[in-house]
Amino acid sequence: MQIPEGIVEDQVLVDLIDLNDEVGIGTTRKVFGVKGASDLVIKESHKPFHYSNFVEWTVWHAVLEMAKDIIGNETNPQLQSHFARAVAISNSAKFLVMERLQPVNYLDQTQLRNFPSWLNDRKPSAFGLAEDGQVKAMDYAMVNFYHVLNPLNNSSPF
Ligand SMILES: Nc1ncnc2c1ncn2[C@@H]1O[C@H](COP(=O)(O)OP(=O)(O)O)[C@@H](O)[C@H]1O
Ligand SMILES: [Mg+2]
Repeated sequence: MQIPEGIVEDQVLVDLIDLNDEVGIGTTRKVFGVKGASDLVIKESHKPFHYSNFVEWTVWHAVLEMAKDIIGNETNPQLQSHFARAVAISNSAKFLVMERLQPVNYLDQTQLRNFPSWLNDRKPSAFGLAEDGQVKAMDYAMVNFYHVLNPLNNSSPF
Protein backbone atom coordinates (compact mmCIF):
# COMPACT_ATOMS: atom_id res chain seq x y z
CA MET A 1 0.00 0.00 0.00
CA GLN A 2 1.22 3.50 -0.82
CA ILE A 3 1.58 5.47 2.43
CA PRO A 4 1.23 9.23 1.93
CA GLU A 5 4.06 11.54 2.91
CA GLY A 6 3.93 15.20 3.93
CA ILE A 7 0.84 17.20 4.90
CA VAL A 8 -2.39 15.40 4.01
CA GLU A 9 -6.15 15.50 4.72
CA ASP A 10 -7.15 14.15 8.15
CA GLN A 11 -9.36 11.53 6.54
CA VAL A 12 -6.47 10.05 4.56
CA LEU A 13 -4.74 9.13 7.83
CA VAL A 14 -7.98 8.10 9.60
CA ASP A 15 -8.45 5.51 6.87
CA LEU A 16 -4.99 4.06 7.53
CA ILE A 17 -5.44 3.45 11.28
CA ASP A 18 -5.40 -0.23 12.21
CA LEU A 19 -7.84 -0.25 15.14
CA ASN A 20 -6.87 -3.86 15.89
CA ASP A 21 -3.29 -2.83 16.59
CA GLU A 22 -3.13 -0.57 19.65
CA VAL A 23 0.55 0.16 20.08
CA GLY A 24 0.50 2.47 23.08
CA ILE A 25 -1.18 5.25 24.97
CA GLY A 26 0.35 8.41 26.39
CA THR A 27 -0.80 11.56 28.10
CA THR A 28 -2.05 13.28 24.95
CA ARG A 29 -2.05 10.60 22.25
CA LYS A 30 -3.10 7.09 21.36
CA VAL A 31 -0.83 5.17 19.02
CA PHE A 32 -1.96 2.60 16.43
CA GLY A 33 -0.45 0.41 13.75
CA VAL A 34 -0.86 1.42 10.10
CA LYS A 35 -2.81 -0.73 7.66
CA GLY A 36 -0.39 -2.15 5.10
CA ALA A 37 2.76 -0.78 6.76
CA SER A 38 4.18 -2.77 9.69
CA ASP A 39 7.10 -0.33 9.97
CA LEU A 40 4.92 2.70 10.81
CA VAL A 41 2.52 3.97 13.50
CA ILE A 42 -0.17 6.66 13.61
CA LYS A 43 -0.31 8.93 16.64
CA GLU A 44 -3.81 10.29 17.32
CA SER A 45 -3.96 13.38 19.51
CA HIS A 46 -6.80 13.83 21.99
CA LYS A 47 -6.24 17.39 23.11
CA PRO A 48 -8.10 20.35 21.56
CA PHE A 49 -4.75 21.69 20.29
CA HIS A 50 -2.60 18.98 18.72
CA TYR A 51 0.62 20.37 20.09
CA SER A 52 2.61 17.13 20.40
CA ASN A 53 2.14 16.03 16.80
CA PHE A 54 2.90 19.54 15.57
CA VAL A 55 6.10 19.78 17.65
CA GLU A 56 7.37 16.35 16.54
CA TRP A 57 6.74 17.24 12.90
CA THR A 58 8.60 20.53 13.35
CA VAL A 59 11.48 18.98 15.26
CA TRP A 60 11.93 16.18 12.71
CA HIS A 61 12.17 18.66 9.84
CA ALA A 62 14.55 20.89 11.77
CA VAL A 63 16.76 17.87 12.41
CA LEU A 64 16.71 16.98 8.70
CA GLU A 65 17.65 20.55 7.84
CA MET A 66 20.66 20.32 10.18
CA ALA A 67 22.12 17.57 8.01
CA LYS A 68 22.32 19.97 5.06
CA ASP A 69 25.42 21.94 4.29
CA ILE A 70 24.05 25.47 4.63
CA ILE A 71 26.44 28.41 4.63
CA GLY A 72 27.02 29.70 8.15
CA ASN A 73 25.75 26.53 9.83
CA GLU A 74 27.67 23.68 11.32
CA THR A 75 26.36 20.53 9.61
CA ASN A 76 24.93 17.94 12.00
CA PRO A 77 24.09 14.78 10.05
CA GLN A 78 24.14 12.49 13.12
CA LEU A 79 21.19 13.96 14.95
CA GLN A 80 18.55 12.52 12.60
CA SER A 81 19.59 8.98 13.53
CA HIS A 82 18.41 9.68 17.10
CA PHE A 83 14.78 10.42 16.21
CA ALA A 84 11.99 8.27 14.81
CA ARG A 85 11.21 9.52 11.32
CA ALA A 86 8.02 11.59 10.97
CA VAL A 87 6.46 10.62 7.64
CA ALA A 88 3.13 12.45 7.35
CA ILE A 89 0.90 14.79 9.35
CA SER A 90 -2.76 15.66 8.82
CA ASN A 91 -4.01 19.20 8.18
CA SER A 92 -5.29 19.64 11.72
CA ALA A 93 -2.23 17.84 13.21
CA LYS A 94 -4.56 15.38 14.96
CA PHE A 95 -2.78 12.50 13.16
CA LEU A 96 0.93 11.90 12.67
CA VAL A 97 2.56 8.98 10.87
CA MET A 98 5.89 7.95 12.37
CA GLU A 99 8.50 5.21 12.03
CA ARG A 100 7.59 2.31 14.32
CA LEU A 101 10.09 1.43 17.04
CA GLN A 102 10.28 -1.52 19.43
CA PRO A 103 9.96 -0.65 23.12
CA VAL A 104 13.01 -0.55 25.41
CA ASN A 105 12.70 -1.26 29.13
CA TYR A 106 15.90 0.32 30.21
CA LEU A 107 18.33 2.96 29.01
CA ASP A 108 21.64 3.72 30.63
CA GLN A 109 23.05 7.18 31.06
CA THR A 110 25.59 6.66 28.27
CA GLN A 111 22.80 6.11 25.75
CA LEU A 112 20.92 9.18 26.97
CA ARG A 113 24.01 11.31 26.57
CA ASN A 114 23.57 11.04 22.78
CA PHE A 115 20.33 13.00 22.99
CA PRO A 116 20.21 16.79 23.03
CA SER A 117 19.65 18.55 26.33
CA TRP A 118 16.50 20.28 25.00
CA LEU A 119 14.72 16.90 24.97
CA ASN A 120 12.79 16.96 28.23
CA ASP A 121 11.08 13.55 28.25
CA ARG A 122 13.89 11.13 29.08
CA LYS A 123 11.93 8.19 30.46
CA PRO A 124 12.50 4.80 28.75
CA SER A 125 8.97 4.73 27.26
CA ALA A 126 9.88 7.81 25.18
CA PHE A 127 12.58 5.81 23.36
CA GLY A 128 12.61 2.71 21.20
CA LEU A 129 14.74 0.51 19.00
CA ALA A 130 14.83 0.97 15.24
CA GLU A 131 15.21 -1.96 12.79
CA ASP A 132 18.99 -1.48 12.71
CA GLY A 133 19.21 -1.56 16.54
CA GLN A 134 19.65 2.20 16.88
CA VAL A 135 18.05 3.77 19.99
CA LYS A 136 15.78 6.63 18.92
CA ALA A 137 13.42 9.08 20.63
CA MET A 138 9.78 8.39 19.66
CA ASP A 139 8.06 10.84 22.02
CA TYR A 140 9.98 14.04 21.39
CA ALA A 141 7.23 16.60 21.84
CA MET A 142 8.50 17.85 25.18
CA VAL A 143 11.06 20.32 23.93
CA ASN A 144 12.47 22.76 26.40
CA PHE A 145 11.89 25.90 24.31
CA TYR A 146 13.02 28.12 27.16
CA HIS A 147 16.41 26.48 26.81
CA VAL A 148 16.51 26.27 23.02
CA LEU A 149 15.39 29.80 22.25
CA ASN A 150 17.83 31.57 24.52
CA PRO A 151 20.88 32.41 22.35
CA LEU A 152 23.01 32.53 25.50
CA ASN A 153 22.45 28.79 26.04
CA ASN A 154 25.02 27.58 23.61
CA SER A 155 26.76 24.96 25.69
CA SER A 156 25.05 21.87 24.24
CA PRO A 157 27.20 19.79 21.86
CA PHE A 158 24.13 19.74 19.60
N1 LIG B 1 7.01 5.62 16.94
C1 LIG B 1 6.52 4.72 17.80
N2 LIG B 1 6.73 3.39 17.64
C2 LIG B 1 6.23 2.49 18.53
N3 LIG B 1 5.54 2.81 19.62
C3 LIG B 1 5.29 4.13 19.83
C4 LIG B 1 5.76 5.14 18.95
N4 LIG B 1 5.40 6.34 19.44
C5 LIG B 1 4.73 6.09 20.57
N5 LIG B 1 4.67 4.76 20.83
C6 LIG B 1 4.04 4.11 21.99
O1 LIG B 1 2.87 4.81 22.35
C7 LIG B 1 3.01 5.41 23.66
C8 LIG B 1 2.36 6.79 23.65
O2 LIG B 1 3.00 7.61 22.70
P1 LIG B 1 3.67 8.99 23.12
O3 LIG B 1 4.38 9.52 21.95
O4 LIG B 1 4.45 8.79 24.37
O5 LIG B 1 2.37 9.86 23.41
P2 LIG B 1 2.17 11.08 24.45
O6 LIG B 1 2.76 12.26 23.80
O7 LIG B 1 0.69 11.15 24.63
O8 LIG B 1 2.90 10.71 25.73
C9 LIG B 1 4.51 5.41 23.93
O9 LIG B 1 4.79 5.35 25.30
C10 LIG B 1 4.96 4.15 23.20
O10 LIG B 1 4.71 3.01 23.99
MG1 LIG C 1 4.66 9.85 26.16
